[in-house]
Amino acid sequence: MWGGRFAAGPDAIMEAINASIGFDKRLAKQDIDGSRAHAAMLAAQGILTDSDAEAIREGLLTVLSEIEGGTFQFSTALEDIHMNVESRLKEIVGEPAGRLHTARSRNDQVATDFKLWVRDQMDAAMAGLTALMQALIGQAEAGADWVMPGFTHLQTAQPVTWGHHMMAYVEMFARDRSRFADARKRMNECPLGAAALAGTSFPIDREATAAALGFDRPAANSLDAVSDRDFALEYLSSATICAMHLSRMAEELVIWSSAQFRFVTLSDRFSTGSSIMPQKKNPDAAELIRAKIGRILGANVALLTVMKGLPLAYSKDMQEDKEQVFDAADNLALALAAMEGMVRDMTANVANLEAAAGSGFSTATDLADWLVRVLDMPFRDAHHVTGALVKLAEDKGCDLPDLSLADMQSVNGQITADVFDVLGVHNSVASRMSYGGTAPAQVRAQITRWKEALA
Ligand code: ARG
Repeated sequence: MWGGRFAAGPDAIMEAINASIGFDKRLAKQDIDGSRAHAAMLAAQGILTDSDAEAIREGLLTVLSEIEGGTFQFSTALEDIHMNVESRLKEIVGEPAGRLHTARSRNDQVATDFKLWVRDQMDAAMAGLTALMQALIGQAEAGADWVMPGFTHLQTAQPVTWGHHMMAYVEMFARDRSRFADARKRMNECPLGAAALAGTSFPIDREATAAALGFDRPAANSLDAVSDRDFALEYLSSATICAMHLSRMAEELVIWSSAQFRFVTLSDRFSTGSSIMPQKKNPDAAELIRAKIGRILGANVALLTVMKGLPLAYSKDMQEDKEQVFDAADNLALALAAMEGMVRDMTANVANLEAAAGSGFSTATDLADWLVRVLDMPFRDAHHVTGALVKLAEDKGCDLPDLSLADMQSVNGQITADVFDVLGVHNSVASRMSYGGTAPAQVRAQITRWKEALA
């Protein structure tokens, strides 16, 4: 491709370090889409003849079908996807192929291809998140009033509803989705036509190529256009936060499915067995999802580190951008799909959840609130009295609702029998009607809101 200036071919090691075709072949479709848009624009501007443009168009479609059909011979000597495609085009259509590279460079080409690829991944992540949110809403609807323990410090705190817990994840994944949506809006400017770095002397129409490729507008500075990889970094940062959320949820599923908790049963379809212990049913998918953050955060750190300190405009360092993003995107998509499947298939063990909800003095706050509300006690005093009642129950080896009225009155003589109403877990959750609280009515309102938003 640059034989004019060179007397000798590259050393084998040079070729090995330089070539990107081993991985950037994944950009073939985007590369051909970009070339088609570019050729059509060149013809419309009178820079290419219509017959050359037509030959290029047909030839590119043939190349694409060869690549998609698996018959294309990729060559490392041709370095990357751009030159592999162009070289094959030359074999198919001859001379017009040599005119395709007019008014562009591999620098704006690769930026365009990669942006198109990352944009698709942003769309895929948003779709995957939507599906996961729908699965969570399905669980929330089924169990809007099932009670379970809510934890802080992984110690029983207060009873909550299953639906409330599921909807907490809906909020988290909705923020992830909106991060991808924000990034997509910001990145949707087309680098094509920035050429090597300075623009071109040909009368190109960058609005036309931008529109043909689904961009909102051409990128406004050619130096920035070829040197920018923020779109990949924003994808990776959004993916990292999403992977962190997936990891947290996966951890809960691991805990909940253990023999000690038995809050949920994961389906056989999303579990594995042990080769030695016949009783085992392992939450491998959840564990792997919990781990995916490692490589996704790794990709994020790797690309930030590659980009750090690079002068304008293009540097070959930037070829190191792709593998990390490919790997992160593949794994994020898989993790989202696996989580969605697990959530759809899992069964909540309602009786176990309810038994656990009432243990660990989970309604102690309800008791303290009752003392404030009914006996007009200052909250700090109520906290103290309740603490003494918890201690009494602990000494007796029972839970708060199992204390007798006489037990209660031994700590505070003004306590009456109605106190027992607030000690039941269903009453406890039903009372938490503040906006965003765990009461089934509040949870149902949130489910309705989200169903409308996702419809
Ligand atoms: N394979 C290169 C990459 O991925 C394409 C751009 C090469 N540009 C250049 N001036 N050598 O970054």
